[in-house]
Formats: sequence, C-alpha cells, structure tokens
Amino acid sequence: MMLESTLYSVVLTVWFYRYVESTRQVESHRLSAVVKAVNNVDQSAVDISLSPRVNSVKPSKTVAISDLATALAQSGIPVIKLAAGEPDFDTPAAIAEAGINAIREGYTRYTPNAGSLEVREAICHKLKEENGISYTPDQILVSNGAKQSIVQAVLAVCSPGDEVIIPAPFWVSYPEMARLADATPVILSTKIEENFLLDPKVLQSSLTEKSRLLILCSPSNPTGSVYPKKLLEEIAQIVARHPRLLVLSDEIYEHIMYAPATHTSFASLPGMWERTLTVNGFSKAFAMTGWRLGYLAGPKHFVAACGKIQSQSTSGASSIAQKAAVAALGLGYAGGEEVAVMVKAFRERRDFLVQSFGKLEGVKITEPQGAFYLFIDFSAYYGSEAEGFGKIEDSESLCRYLLDKGQVAAVPGSAFGDDSCIRISYATSLTTLQAAFERIKKALVPLKRPARV
Ligand SMILES: Cc1ncc(COP(=O)(O)O)c(C=O)c1O
Repeated sequence: MMLESTLYSVVLTVWFYRYVESTRQVESHRLSAVVKAVNNVDQSAVDISLSPRVNSVKPSKTVAISDLATALAQSGIPVIKLAAGEPDFDTPAAIAEAGINAIREGYTRYTPNAGSLEVREAICHKLKEENGISYTPDQILVSNGAKQSIVQAVLAVCSPGDEVIIPAPFWVSYPEMARLADATPVILSTKIEENFLLDPKVLQSSLTEKSRLLILCSPSNPTGSVYPKKLLEEIAQIVARHPRLLVLSDEIYEHIMYAPATHTSFASLPGMWERTLTVNGFSKAFAMTGWRLGYLAGPKHFVAACGKIQSQSTSGASSIAQKAAVAALGLGYAGGEEVAVMVKAFRERRDFLVQSFGKLEGVKITEPQGAFYLFIDFSAYYGSEAEGFGKIEDSESLCRYLLDKGQVAAVPGSAFGDDSCIRISYATSLTTLQAAFERIKKALVPLKRPARV
C-alpha cells in the first residue's frame, strides 16, 4: 500500500510537470547541444535540437492523461478511465472474420497507395447511399486512420501564413495540425448555452483573404453537438462568398447519433462539393480503433495532392484492415444492427450521465446529440480550496484533483480550447459510469460551496 501510494504521488507529480517540462526540455537540450558544439569538448556530441515546426506543436493532453491513468491502473490503483476516445466494444465478429480471412487467403501484400479498388468502390457506394454525395474511386484516399487523412489534407492545402478556422471546443489535433503546416489556427469560441455550435455571424466576421480552411466536426468531439442542416446551410452561404476557403468536414462520429438528430454531410449542400474535403473512418462506429483505417473524399485535385504526401510517407493502409472495412460497409445502412446495438448502449449511458450531472449544484451541461463524450462546465468550482490539495484553479487542476481524490480520469477542457469544462468519455459500461459519477460527486463535496451560476 505504501509503495502504491508513493508510486501514485510520483506519477501525479510527473503529470503535473509534464507540460512545463516538455517545452523546457527542448530548450535546454538545444542549449546544451549548442554549448557542446561551441566548446568543442565532445567531438561525438549529437546536436539534438529539433525543428521549429515540431517545437511549435503541443503534446496531446488526452494521450497524456490516458497514459497516466493506465500507469496508475497498472500499479494497482483502481482508477476509472474516462479519458480515452475509444469504444469499449469489440470489433463486430463479421468484420474481424473478414480480417482473419484476409490473412488466411494471403491478402497480405501492399495495396495501391490510395487503397484497394474494392474498398474505394464500397466507400463511394456508402457516400452516395447514406450521405447523398457522389464520388468516383479516384476521389477517395484510404489512410491509416482519419487522423492521417486530416493531417494530409491540412498539409496539402495550407501554405505558410494561411489561416485555419477552428470552432472551439475542438478536437485536440486540429490546431496542432495547422501549426505543422506552418499555418495559423484561428479559434472561434462557441457557448454552452448555444450547444457549442458555431455562430455564423462570428464566422463571417472572422474570415479574411488568408482564411484557407474551415474545420467542422459533427457530431463533435469533445461536445457531442450535432450541426443541424439549417445551420450548415447558413455556414455554406458564408463559405461560398470566400473563393479561397475550403472546408474539412470531419464526420467520423456520423453513425453515433441519437434520434431525432440527423447527420448532414457538408459536401451535400449546394455548391459545397467542390470545396469540401470529407473525412470519415472506421475507428468509432465500428469499434475498429486498432485497425487504423480512415478515408478522405473530395475533388480529385485535392485528393491526389494528399495521395502524393501519403505515397512518400506511409504508402497504402493495411491490406487486412481494408478487407475488414469492406465487411464493415457491408453490414448495412449506417452499420446495420451491429452498430445500432452499440449506439443504443451509448444512448443509455448518455441519458444516465446527463440526468445525474444535471442535478449537481454549480454544474452546466448540455445533452449531446452524438459521439460518446460529455463536455461539462465545472467552472463554478474554480477558486475552491481543497484540503490537502490546494486551489482548484482551472480545468487542469480540477482533473488532477478528481484523479487524486476520486481516482477518476477525465480530460481538462483546456486541451480542447475551453477551460471552463472537462471532457468525460462514456465509452465504458453503465456500471462503471455509475461508480465514476458517485466518486466525482463525493470528491466535489469537500470543495468550498461553489458560487451560484
Ligand atoms: C474528431 C476526431 N477526428 C478524427 C479522429 C481520428 O480517428 P482515427 O485516426 O482513429 O480514424 C478522432 C479520434 O479520436 C476524432 O475524435
């Protein structure tokens, strides 16, 4: 027990200083490399300085807290992990079987860079049937996950100094991907009272001739908000007035959607096909995170440019995962019964959490219409003193407190561009969520009574 608690505090301390350290380290390594070079003391010294591009990118806080929670769990501390964006279900059997058969049948060689014709044809069929958008296989690029699809798109279309317009709260990687492309992320805030949806007037007033890419994510990670068709139409009208502006529509949570909400693909709106890069993938709806398969659909000119980047980096995605993806798309409309069962479970969990957190004093919450995240405003607790812990100043210290006192891992909202909230992933069983809620509730009790909101 003694050893456990020592390890626990060591790991927590490591987390606390991790971000500060990560930036400091680069600087001090650079300095010592330069000092060594100048003094010429050690002929074999290696210059370990890194490119300014890498230095401008922040490490992912979601990955950091997931790693920390895993380390604590491995050391025997019963942490409840609500940090990762990963379904808790197994890949449906029919999909897994298709992967196994691919190996058995020797489908284990390189595929074309853009993906096998079979999987690209299946994707075209899906996009036509489910999303009302027409593509030919040469307008599809299959990659090792939607993350790769997005970063390649950003790299392919942005020039240094271009602006990438990102509504906040945003998925952690968008601004960093913009920075990797030497572009400037322009963050547009939204309000919890407006379901975290982008106000078209805010968009309109933020666009300049430098605006190159607008990134939309619906259903959203981290808020679960779904853009209604009418709002997307208003956004499309604004976009249409800016000839340089493209839209990257991240639709990876498309199938995890709670009726009556419905999904609209941005590319299906009048005049938007030509300027939209649609991204989707298999990780979330089909519980295939480890298979690493996503895709981009768009005008050939842009897709070919992304393919060029891919051909000089990873080449084609896994042949086995592509066979599995064909089986996934064969499950039926929106993933058929297999996906419907998972969505039903997500919905039950969402309902439980929204109801439970909704009753806590000082907490603001919206009912997400999709994905499997809650983005909860706990800012009324900021400023509270916790005995033996110190002041809860922001989303990061609140998450550290919840991990310390409640042994629940959540992600600070600051990682997503909104410090008033924390993100909870409900991709875990209802029983675990019930236990997590009780722990959070208990951990909040000793905090000084929050100011009324
Ligand atoms: C909004 C969003 N887009 C893209 C991705 C990337 O998914 P993958 O690379 O697993 O296909 C994620 C994963 O967390 C996500 O949340």
